[in-house]
Amino acid sequence: MEDKKVAISVQNVNKTLGDRKVLNGINLDIYQGETFVIMGGSGCGKSTLLRHMTGALVPDKGKVFIGDRDLTTLSKDEKDRTKRKFGMCFQSSALLDSLSVEDNVSLPLREHTKLDPHIINIIVKMKLGLVGLRGFEHLMPSMLSGGMKKRVGLARAIAMDPEIVFYDEPTAGLDPIVAAVIDKLILDLSKKLLITSVVVTHDMNSVFRIANRVAMLHAGRVLEIGTPEDIKNSKNAIVQQFIRGETEGPVNFIDKGDDYLKDLAE
Ligand SMILES: Nc1ncnc2c1ncn2[C@@H]1O[C@H](COP(=O)(O)OP(=O)(O)O)[C@@H](O)[C@H]1O
Ligand SMILES: [Mg+2]
Repeated sequence: MEDKKVAISVQNVNKTLGDRKVLNGINLDIYQGETFVIMGGSGCGKSTLLRHMTGALVPDKGKVFIGDRDLTTLSKDEKDRTKRKFGMCFQSSALLDSLSVEDNVSLPLREHTKLDPHIINIIVKMKLGLVGLRGFEHLMPSMLSGGMKKRVGLARAIAMDPEIVFYDEPTAGLDPIVAAVIDKLILDLSKKLLITSVVVTHDMNSVFRIANRVAMLHAGRVLEIGTPEDIKNSKNAIVQQFIRGETEGPVNFIDKGDDYLKDLAE
């Protein structure tokens, strides 16, 4: 990957929320065109890290580069312009229940462009086609299954032809087969549209299906970073415990529940 261009560079990012040091010196580079997965247990800081990459949160210390621009020092206008390159697909699908499929997908186009409604219509049909929902334009979200809602969310995320798409737990709450279908779609879209994808997940099946590279987060630090193969072969006992889903190991889930993180974070 030596000759690859860096799409996102996270440099020594630190963040305290409440009384908790949630990110503790995160460093990682994400290359253009790759599918980069951020994995780790619940509460380890995955979403918080993602929100720093999208500019929703500003680090207490450290920098986040999108290409050669430091998100943390951009003016509001420049930041907004940079954010136009992003597509986002979050856990809840976040569809507006009162709008049809078509109107949900066209929302960013109507908000951020001056395109003719006729052109927007064509773009929406094309995006829905890409996620396998051609002909579903007029349905309401309440009529859709969980997997279909995710697809609409995906179509909306790519509506503005983003360079980078951020996914937060895209397969959470889906049955294993539908989850596999969504994973395949994420891969298809990255390839067809040459998108850089950043995917937060704790679903190990997803990790090994979609990742070019993976960072394992734990207690606000990057424990391991590399290809899925590197992660599988990691000598770190916490990484091994996580990918095997074992209750016994360095992380004691049973005694401490989610609070084990509090003890490990400094
Ligand atoms: N606004 C906030 N105020 C205080 N603590 C927060 C806030 N947001 C997140 N946290 C804490 O930060 C930790 C990491 O959260 P998050 O990044 O959402 O974890 P993950 O996505 O890995 O499950 C959690 O312990 C969470 O309770
Ligand atoms: Mg999260």
